[in-house]
Amino acid sequence: MSETGDEVSDLIDRVSEIELKLQAIEQAPLGITIADLRQDDEPLIYVNDGFEEITGYDSEEMLGRNCRFLQGPETAEEPVARMREAIENEEAVRVELRNYRKNGEQFWSEVTLAPLHTENGEVTHYVGFQQDITRRKEYEETLEQQRDDLGVLNEMVRHDIRNDLQVALASMELLQAGEGDDEQITAAIESIQQAIGLTNIARELAEVMLDTETDHHPIELRSVLLSEVEDVRSTAPDATITVAGTVPSVRVRANELLGSVFRNLLTNALKHGEQSAPTVQLSAAVSDGEVIVTVDDNGPGVPEDARERLFDRGWTGASDGGTGMGLHIVERVVESYGGTVALADEENTGLGGASFVVRLPVADSD
Ligand SMILES: Cc1cc2nc3c(=O)[nH]c(=O)nc-3n(C[C@H](O)[C@H](O)[C@H](O)COP(=O)(O)O)c2cc1C
Repeated sequence: MSETGDEVSDLIDRVSEIELKLQAIEQAPLGITIADLRQDDEPLIYVNDGFEEITGYDSEEMLGRNCRFLQGPETAEEPVARMREAIENEEAVRVELRNYRKNGEQFWSEVTLAPLHTENGEVTHYVGFQQDITRRKEYEETLEQQRDDLGVLNEMVRHDIRNDLQVALASMELLQAGEGDDEQITAAIESIQQAIGLTNIARELAEVMLDTETDHHPIELRSVLLSEVEDVRSTAPDATITVAGTVPSVRVRANELLGSVFRNLLTNALKHGEQSAPTVQLSAAVSDGEVIVTVDDNGPGVPEDARERLFDRGWTGASDGGTGMGLHIVERVVESYGGTVALADEENTGLGGASFVVRLPVADSD
């Protein structure tokens, strides 16, 4: 082959090599972007297919803009500042932050930025690598929540339940020594009942913790509500627990913890009802594909300053000796069913006290 023939074939080889590299960048299963630092506000001059896929924008909508348009109200300031500083210092950086797709949906992005140097060492461009790490983040959040829950369970078993049993034991030892009276018997019974209550809460918490939604199935709500009302009634013969009107026959997607939700709300209402004559009323209605269950009591209502922390874990408010787990578990379970629980505004309450409203989506009739 002639010399020019060799040159041409070398050139062809080089072009195919460059094409191959370009293909790798274009088709890489992650976002790749290039920003021009010489232009005002560092606009994007290249985005690959993967980046269009992650963000939902077409390349024409992104080119020429600074990539910060992907940020929004829930993007933390710290990772943004780290990117800004790294670019100022011409350094590489990796951050995890919340970005927004074109349709407004949030996602977690791992953004790695690196300066591109010219032959004489000048930084003229930055390359960005973006990965959608939403699933990993959600998994991490679940793990964190489970670790927290385990801590609470541990504390309940090691501390609260043990305390109750120790009180019961002390009373019984007095009785055995012939020094106790009825008071000791009552104290022992109360402590043991409290310990049993705590083991129930511990079991519920363990179940919420391990709930994977795979066991959620349509459950007829009416029978669950009526049976919980019946159970709570039997434990509080002096209280008035009524069901207003008829409970509609609907099914909701739930699991065996559905009963705990209403048991917790009913016992909570009883505890906070008017002490000499506690009255609790449950009602249910269907509206717009939702079933709305309300539990009212005739107590003093929830003080303004307690309203915000009502569903927080471990918050007991009044010194009633509770664990503060009841309402927290209620909220966790209801949310896992795609529903909500809230305290109604004071003026809407039926019996003049607190009024808790649970909303659950009605299951498809299949
Ligand atoms: C090549 C490149 C890619 C970038 N990709 C993203 C991104 O995907 N998401 C994001 O929130 N910010 C991204 N940024 C960061 C923003 O463009 C901007 O640098 C950052 O918000 C800090 O600057 P600011 O404080 O002026 O907004 C990227 C920056 C560069 C240079």
